[in-house]
Amino acid sequence: MKPLLSKISNILPEHSVVFIIEKDKIPDFARLTDAEKNYVQKQLSAGEKFAVLNDYKRFIYIVSLKDKTGNFNVREDLRRSAYKLRKLIKSNNHDELVISSENSYIGAVEDFTEGLILSVYSFDKYITDNKEENKKHHPAKLLLHGKTDDNKIKWLKEVTDAVWFVRDWVNEPVNHLNAVTLAMEIKKKGEEAGFSVEIFNKMKIESLKMGGLLAVNRGSIDPPSFSILEWKPEGHLNINPIVLVGKGIVYDTGGLNIKTGDYMSGMKGDMAGAAIVTGALYVAARTGIPLHIVGLVPSTDNRPGENAYTQGDIITMHNNTTVEIGNTDAEGGLILADAISYASKYKPEFIINIATLTGSAAMTFGAHAIAAMSNAKKKYIDMLKDAGDEVYERIAELPLWEEYGEALKSDVADIRNVGGREAGAITAGKFLEKFTSYPLIHLDIAGNEILKKDEYYKLKNGTGTGLRLLSVFLKKLAESY
Ligand code: BES
Ligand code: ZN
Ligand code: ZN
Repeated sequence: MKPLLSKISNILPEHSVVFIIEKDKIPDFARLTDAEKNYVQKQLSAGEKFAVLNDYKRFIYIVSLKDKTGNFNVREDLRRSAYKLRKLIKSNNHDELVISSENSYIGAVEDFTEGLILSVYSFDKYITDNKEENKKHHPAKLLLHGKTDDNKIKWLKEVTDAVWFVRDWVNEPVNHLNAVTLAMEIKKKGEEAGFSVEIFNKMKIESLKMGGLLAVNRGSIDPPSFSILEWKPEGHLNINPIVLVGKGIVYDTGGLNIKTGDYMSGMKGDMAGAAIVTGALYVAARTGIPLHIVGLVPSTDNRPGENAYTQGDIITMHNNTTVEIGNTDAEGGLILADAISYASKYKPEFIINIATLTGSAAMTFGAHAIAAMSNAKKKYIDMLKDAGDEVYERIAELPLWEEYGEALKSDVADIRNVGGREAGAITAGKFLEKFTSYPLIHLDIAGNEILKKDEYYKLKNGTGTGLRLLSVFLKKLAESY
């Protein structure tokens, strides 16, 4: 259970509190005794970032910031502090915990709270445990004190709710989440948040001649799905919609070019892009971002079943381009290309594609950056970079130079679905670019989604990285009109 959030204006003597302070400036309203102040000061001057006090009725956690600029590194430090304190805070079983900051930067309370909420997530629904005390989750309620307001708390709640469900979906194995059930989950989120969802079944996908999605699906027993999510609030500020496309491979075995060794581990999370697109529409609808946004989610598993597509196949895509299959493990580009060409129907202002697309992006950046490729106006990529710094889901740009497209030449079809061994993340981006004449921003999140160990509050297993990025980007974009 996720902690509930609310605002509080008066801290009571019995409240346990996290005080966020600048250096060692303890606020008077913390009402510490001289002995307690001395202890805290001693801890902090010894280089510790925290000090913890407790008497018989409450805990006081002091978190010290190196300055109160609120620049993105200081903000990230604070989220990480919450991660570092998570075990202690959890073990103290607070029903209520106050988060307070008077003399640090505006937004500090929200940043700490965000870090804490993201740090106490767990995927435990399949653990059968009958003990009552283990079912309780703490802290049950976080009370935000100081310079906060209802809008900020609402934003924080909706964004963290979305990160939680994105992580749930990524962590859900394919025997519990296939292409059809993913579409149904998307539909439920639409109903919950107020955006519309239309689901195309296999017959409809066939009639639209989405040859990429159908080819990848051929080795599977489960049918594919194609979900269209739409948020079109009255008075939206953009004339042409923003289209978000998310990779929805519910499991990637590699197909007949089957993944060997440990490369298949984590491939239940190959639909992270789809989950993030759903999360972004969820946040937009729940917080009322005044933009017309469309989400497209092509989905299937990629398996080497009986009639599986093979290396050497030549397929015809939704936009009639023919593709020679050089490798069945490069399935993401195929299903995304169909969605990207389908996006033309909306005459989008621009398209953002988000996908766990290449091992190459993961090898290049690890978990510390999202690989971005863009042919859209520079102002969009700048805005995306700013959003990335702000939420610490940073993006690093790779080029989409013409020359990189040459690796995709085929002797027998218009294009191949793989380039050579070199520059794999970029050639995959070039492949997608060929399927639209509208501006495209492509985000490759292969290194960010399923982690083997905690990267602070980006916990191991599904992280949901990209959701906070897109949410803040869309909010900033709306403010720019
Ligand atoms: N889903 C994988 C990419 C991936 C790798 C995601 C590691 C997350 C972590 C993708 O479908 C894939 O298999 N790509 C191949 C492409 C190759 C065959 C050209 C790759 O990157 O190895
Ligand atoms: Zn894949
Ligand atoms: Zn693959």
